Amino acid sequence: MPIAQKIAQFIDRSSWIRAMFEAGAKLKAEKGAENVYDFSLGNPNLEPPEAFYEVIGRLAANRTPGLHAYMPNAGFPAVRAKVADHLTKIHGVKFSADEVIMTVGAGGALNVTLKALVDPGANVVVPTPYFVEYDFYLDNHGGVVKRVPTRADFGLDVAAIAAAVDDQTCAVLINNPNNPSGAVYPEDQIQALGQALTEVSQKRGRPVYLISDEPYRQLVYDGATVASVFAAYPHSLVVTSFSKNLSLPGERIGYVAAHPAIADKGQLMAGMNLANRILGFVNAPAMMQLAVAELLDKVADVAQYAKKRRLICDVLTDAGFEFSEPKGAFYVFPKSPIADDVAFVRAAQEENLLLVPGSGFMGPGYFRIAYCCADETIIRSAPAFKRVRARI
Ligand SMILES: Cc1ncc(COP(=O)(O)O)c(C=O)c1O
Repeated sequence: MPIAQKIAQFIDRSSWIRAMFEAGAKLKAEKGAENVYDFSLGNPNLEPPEAFYEVIGRLAANRTPGLHAYMPNAGFPAVRAKVADHLTKIHGVKFSADEVIMTVGAGGALNVTLKALVDPGANVVVPTPYFVEYDFYLDNHGGVVKRVPTRADFGLDVAAIAAAVDDQTCAVLINNPNNPSGAVYPEDQIQALGQALTEVSQKRGRPVYLISDEPYRQLVYDGATVASVFAAYPHSLVVTSFSKNLSLPGERIGYVAAHPAIADKGQLMAGMNLANRILGFVNAPAMMQLAVAELLDKVADVAQYAKKRRLICDVLTDAGFEFSEPKGAFYVFPKSPIADDVAFVRAAQEENLLLVPGSGFMGPGYFRIAYCCADETIIRSAPAFKRVRARI
């Protein structure tokens, strides 16, 4: 019995990731892992902050009955109340526990949100380049991505986003700070986006939601800050996780928060709540909910990522690559020296450099470097970047 045609096609479409992974594993086996410069995966190389180990130690010893039982699909009410207080502090908008649903990472939060918003045939407007899973997530719920290019510096083209909203558009989805570009959208762009979506919503007599995917919110450099969509637009939602800021991607914990003034909020929250259940998540992992509720102000050592960012930017500059200096997350998205980014990434592999082609992020002509790796890897990769630049 064959598997479903669609997933078979998706396996083919994402096969470059597998191909890269396999090529990387082969290279490491042949040359020794220390001689391969692996910039392919966004897996944080920093360990969680010490406070995390202290909290889970305490939680592991806690014998309170019901701690590991089923719970409301949205999560522990006390955890959601703490997240709401945290959101109130950072966004200057008053949140309550009713506006927060704990989820299985940001991926879970995105799926819960899209399940609640997307009717078959609906579209979501997304600036390119973007996180490769969005296409698959949208498809899970019968929707499609409507792509809008960003500006040359990867900033938002607000007019183009507004113009792309049509009758089938249920939401605009941005990712700030951005994977793969490392862009952090300046406050004036977020304000302008809120203004433009207010006008579009009024014109069509139905709000278009703004979803901001923010798992890298606390990983910012050079004094950059992530502007609040909640302060800019009432029909907004934030999806996020503790995967990157606390280095906990394997623990699968995050949340979605909806603006208190959002239209039909009761129904939206009920929809997302049910989605958490019927997508099979049921609820976010109990222990991790309790853990992160105590760690909302904590963050991995951003100074270490800042150092890695400086190192990789210097390596790229010395080798003659063209790139916008990233302001957040742990990615940089340089221009490929040749138009065919896949061919460039193959050539880089011959120099033991593992990169990801921009085409995989709907950003052809570029390549992505994930610099969440050892400083040594970055430093020792410098000659390889020079060699591939010189021969291409
Ligand atoms: C932009 C973006 N959104 C969402 C996710 C998914 O995060 P999580 O591991 O919390 O599901 C990632 C993971 O790399 C990401 O880069």
